[in-house]
Amino acid sequence: MNSKDLEFYGDLAPLLIEKENSLLSEIKGILDSISTDSETALAEHLKSRIKSCDSIKEKLGKNDLDENAVTGLKELSDVIGLRIVTHFVGDIYTVLEKIQLSKKWRVVTVKDYITNCKPNGYRSLHVILSVDFDYPGLDHINVEIQLRTIAMDCWASLEHQLKYKKNIKNTELIVSELKRCADEMASTDLSLQTIREMIQNHE
Ligand code: GTP
Ligand code: MG
Repeated sequence: MNSKDLEFYGDLAPLLIEKENSLLSEIKGILDSISTDSETALAEHLKSRIKSCDSIKEKLGKNDLDENAVTGLKELSDVIGLRIVTHFVGDIYTVLEKIQLSKKWRVVTVKDYITNCKPNGYRSLHVILSVDFDYPGLDHINVEIQLRTIAMDCWASLEHQLKYKKNIKNTELIVSELKRCADEMASTDLSLQTIREMIQNHE
């Protein structure tokens, strides 16, 4: 957290950092408990972030809410966000099952944008968890976990840049090419999953 975010979160900052770290280690534990081929780790990477004060304020402001940290934690589900990037699509659902079985949290919603992708081609699985929290007026907070393959992650990073770049030429072409790539990548992700199963079932 930078000094601006530390100031915004105040005495919530250490509690959020501690919660973020404990969630990361819970998820690491889940990933380690899923045995895959000994050479290949299940997840390409696991990342987390605490939402910056600018982006909290922007989102609260849009919804005419008070722009403070407690309101952010009550109204937004992704003040703490985790992202698990896997090699194969199947792994996403294996991890989801484990997340659903854990007693460390309550699963609030699962949004499957892999089965039902967004119109722009965005694919990922979003899980919102409710976790215990210990702060006056906040006995729990919501946390968002995004699960996606390496291909989906690569696509989402590029598409995200499009939203923040101003004066881009050929936007229409870029949007339609992104959609085409997203669909091709999804098809390749499924083929890789099938090939992997063919190889594994052969053992
Ligand atoms: P926001 O979209 O964050 O306002 O919340 P929401 O309640 O509409 O949830 P949604 O599931 O649509 O998105 C949550 C998060 O998923 C976003 O903050 C992004 O990180 C990611 N996401 C959703 N849609 C897209 C998309 O079209 N492109 C990219 N790159 N990321 C997306
Ligand atoms: Mg949205």
